[in-house]
Amino acid sequence: MNSISITLGKNNVGAYINDVNLNSLNKNITVQIKSILDNYGVVFIKEQNLNSNAYQNFAKCIGELVEYPRLKGLENFPYINVLERKPSDKSLAFGGSWLHQDTSYLKKDRPRYTMLMGIEIPEGQGNTIFSSGFNAYNKLPDEVKQKIKNAIGVFSSAGPISKTRIELEKRAGIQSAKVLEAEHPIVQEVNGQKTLYVSPGHLMKIKNIDDGEKIKNFLIEHVNKEEFIFSYKWSKGDLVLWDNLSVMHKASEIKNCSRIMHRITIK
Ligand SMILES: [Fe+2]
Repeated sequence: MNSISITLGKNNVGAYINDVNLNSLNKNITVQIKSILDNYGVVFIKEQNLNSNAYQNFAKCIGELVEYPRLKGLENFPYINVLERKPSDKSLAFGGSWLHQDTSYLKKDRPRYTMLMGIEIPEGQGNTIFSSGFNAYNKLPDEVKQKIKNAIGVFSSAGPISKTRIELEKRAGIQSAKVLEAEHPIVQEVNGQKTLYVSPGHLMKIKNIDDGEKIKNFLIEHVNKEEFIFSYKWSKGDLVLWDNLSVMHKASEIKNCSRIMHRITIK
């Protein structure tokens, strides 16, 4: 099997996949990409500029596509959601300000992967910020690892990050949906590697542990440490695909510019 070359992101967060052209897909390439994704949590594939058909076809090689009802889909591609920021928008960026793992407030069948392609990218701003759950877990003191072994997080759609979603719903004239809540272990495993699943934008409390509140604050501060963070700078046509079990992300602040991303949610 030919091996794709990769370059790790800053602080070993995620991996750039070099020299692939997703317009000509084959099983060998998609199997390798999936395995790089399993090992590094997020993959960055530069300047692909796929049309919607090719973009969706690649997503189907990763898993089952999921409709995301709170965002508008493209006319012939309902699984491709448009995230648009206009120069006049003053609100917080959708998904901004708090690191999170998408839809952690859903139970068992929550979608696992999120993919974005940059359609219109402003100069000098609009990075997406990632924090590695693998690296953050590995650097925990042993006594904390021991302590959180069986801890359960309670995640809510009304967590701190919901502010950015409510803005978006208001604009689209959508009534805010009822609050969703789910519980998940805060230590998860992907392909034999342990990762921290604490989604600070949604985490309400930690159960099954003494000092839940103290540990919660400690872990949130921990995953926000500079040493686990990579701020990804977009170019037009870039494709970024992440596993919500093993990386957290947030949008950076963005002002007075237009930006369009196409998003696909994958189970
Ligand atoms: Fe998000």
